[in-house]
Formats: sequence, C-alpha cells, structure tokens
Amino acid sequence: MTSTVSPPSSRSLEFASRDEIANAQLHRLRWSVQHAYDNVPHYRKSFDTKGVHPSDLKQLSDLALFPFTAKADLRENYPFGMLAVPQDQVSRVHASSGTTGRPTVVGYTANDISNWADLVARSLSAAGVKRGDKVHVAYGYGLFTGGLGAHYGAERLGATVIPMSGGMTDRQIQLIDDFKPDAIMVTPSYMLTIVDAMISKGIDPASTSLRTGVFGAEPWTEQMRRELEQTLGMDAVDIYGLSEVMGPGVAQECVETKDGLHIWEDHFYPEIIDPMTGEVLPDGEKGELVFTSLSKEAMPIIRYRTRDLTRLLPGTARTVRRMEKVTGRTDDMIILRGVNLFPTQIEELILTVPALAPQFQCVLSREGRMDQLTVRVEPRSDAATAEHDEAAAVLRKQIKDRIGVTVAVEVSEPGSLVRSTGKAQRLIDNRPKD
Ligand code: DLL
Repeated sequence: MTSTVSPPSSRSLEFASRDEIANAQLHRLRWSVQHAYDNVPHYRKSFDTKGVHPSDLKQLSDLALFPFTAKADLRENYPFGMLAVPQDQVSRVHASSGTTGRPTVVGYTANDISNWADLVARSLSAAGVKRGDKVHVAYGYGLFTGGLGAHYGAERLGATVIPMSGGMTDRQIQLIDDFKPDAIMVTPSYMLTIVDAMISKGIDPASTSLRTGVFGAEPWTEQMRRELEQTLGMDAVDIYGLSEVMGPGVAQECVETKDGLHIWEDHFYPEIIDPMTGEVLPDGEKGELVFTSLSKEAMPIIRYRTRDLTRLLPGTARTVRRMEKVTGRTDDMIILRGVNLFPTQIEELILTVPALAPQFQCVLSREGRMDQLTVRVEPRSDAATAEHDEAAAVLRKQIKDRIGVTVAVEVSEPGSLVRSTGKAQRLIDNRPKD
C-alpha cells in the first residue's frame, strides 16, 4: 500500500506568518489523512462508517467531519495494527505501560525519528539550552518515550548528553556534582525527590551547575515552577508530549516568556473539544486537547483524544499557538460530592502554606455512601512539629474556601510518602469498585 500524496517537507514554521502556517497545515493535513486512509485499515473503516473521505478535507475546519481516535482504538489494534508502513520501514517502537489492559504501541520510521529529534532540539533551544551545553537526561530510557526522545533531541541540538535515565537517586546527585550539567530533563516530581535527597546529604540544591530544568510528562503548576526555580536557582520550563502523538516535544514553553507551551503546529494540528459532546471549541475556551499528526509516516494519528484539559492561546515568543499549562486529565478528575477537582489545584494550595512541602497524595475512600478525600502531605523538614496541626487546618480551610469541598488533611512524617522516580501518582482511589 502506498499513499497518493508526497510526504510534507519539514521546514520549520516556528516563526512563520499565520497564513503560511495555515497553508502548510492544510497541505500536510490532507497528506496525513489520505496516508492514514490508504494504509491503516482502522482509519479506512472508521472514515467509511462515518461517511467521510479524505477528499472532503477542503479547509482546516473540515477536520471536524472526521472521527476521533481513542486509546481504546490503539489497544484494539495491538500490537502493530495502527502502523501505516511495512514493518521493515519501522526503525523503532515505543509503548506506554498502561495501568490496565494492553499497552499502547507506537512506531516510527527513520524520518519520524529524525523529525522528533528536530522538534526536541527546537524545544530545548526554546528552553534556553544551547549547543555545547551538557544535558542530564533523567527521564526513563526504554519503552517510555521520555528518555530516548530527550536524548536524540539533545544530541541533535549539539549538546553533550548524559543519559542517566530515572532512579538511582544518589548516583544522579553524584553525577550532577561531578559532570556539572547545564540543564536537566526530568519529571518535576522526580526533581523534587532529587532535591530532597540533596538536602539530606547537606548539599544546597541551588549550588549545583544546573541553570535550566525542562520538566514534563506530568502536570505541574505555576506555584511548583516558583518552588523549583527558587530551590534550584534555575529556569524551570514545561515540555509536553504523549507517546501516541510522538513523545516529548509536541509543545514547549519558551524561557523568555514562560507563558504556556508553544505547540509545534507544523507537525501537529491541535483542536479543543467539549469532552462530553465532542464539539470543537473556539480558541481560548477550555476543553479536551485533540491532536492530528501532520508528518508522521509510521503511525499517522487522526484526531487523537488526549484526555488532557487545556485551552489554545495565540503565540507570543513564537507565531505558533500556545496551549495553557495542562491542569489535569479527564481521568484524574475527582468528583467529590458534586464538585470537580484536580490534584493540581491541591498542589497550588499546598504551596501557599509555608510549613508544607510539595510531597502529597490525594486518597479517595468511601465511608458509608459518602466519598471522602484525604490529602496526605509532608511538612517542610524545617517546620516544627507544633506547626503541623495548624498547617493542616490552614490547608483544609483553603481547600474549602477556594474549591468548595471539605476534605481531611493528614500531615505525615517527612519522607513518609512514596517518592517518585518518574511520573508521580497523585491520586489513589481506595473506593470499592461497584
Ligand atoms: O509523558 C511524553 C513526555 C516525556 C512528555 C517527557 C514530556 C517529557 P506518555 O507517557 O504517553 O508520554 O504520557 C502522556 O502525560 O497525555 C499528559 O497527560 C501527561 N503529560 C505529558 N507532558 C505533560 C506536561 C509522555 N508537560 C501524558 N504537563 C499526556 C502535563 C503532561 N501533563
């Protein structure tokens, strides 16, 4: 099977005019949708069922005619059913572990890997990382896209890569001390774990060589940015991505503005939809982020529902549009006695209480017929025991006043909560499955 249109060129449109971006997007989108239809039975079937054909795509907004793709579609086509090229053209696969069921598998041609490296290099450059800098990669290597995605991009930029991977926290600290990296790429929660370990060894985290942190793979807040920047004496910027769409480097915050993430719109077409109705929402309105790939050969993805909640905003430091920092996933939304809330809202409030550390978990349980949320949080190591009860009361009141729900707050011993070495698990659902 071959596609009828030639693949799009990969010239960067980071700073192009909006017209030029839209023209290139339409050209690439038509290629991508045709490629998917011609070469992936799943898309042929789902388009035919919906009565749409790639030739219906006359303008960008016509994309709304096409069906969505969900994680379940990837699972149903496990392992290689979503691939649009013969296996001998696939140079790499990645997979998400998936807490339940089959993992989702994604594939890349050599061109896809090269485009990905370009986009991560572009992201690092936007983050303020330069050719010749040393980049410590503490995202996990392996089937997870974080480590290898970061690695190829840092190499493409011309940086010196330190491929540390996640875990072995003492060794991370030793190599940061010995190799003196300029930048670190790591989840914000694992950065906090490293910071804690530094403090317990008597090392001031602000004294390291690190000047830039490129943090992503999980939601984190403005308050957490302040915490990381102050504790580490660095610029903390956000990198976003997901394996189904590529991996890290789908969108990146620019260090000069730190105002949300610029989406690399020359390779990914974003839409925001109402998660309940599927209707496309105008820029500026909050909803679920949906992506269509514009250049991927091995696994084109059409209208992929990310479940991430955000809004689209105009470009600032770049002409491509921005997405606001992701506040949470539809799956992480806690509905407590009719009120919707996300762990990021709890993080924001915890960081306003001076005696509390940003190590926390939200535990859901059921008492009788009532759902109960307990926020387990650690105190700062320098907070006196006598301050703990007061800090718990302040946080409980803040949550009641700002979010509108009554929760229990438990201030546990410093170091008692499980430390993240990758993505933190903020939500623990102990409610009986009914
Ligand atoms: O987490 C890719 C990645 C690696 C991104 C390293 C950034 C850095 P997945 O494991 O497929 O891929 O998980 C994707 O993680 O849908 C979001 O819910 C969440 N996520 C990723 N980046 C961010 C971010 C990688 N910057 C899922 N802010 C996505 C908030 C993020 N959530």
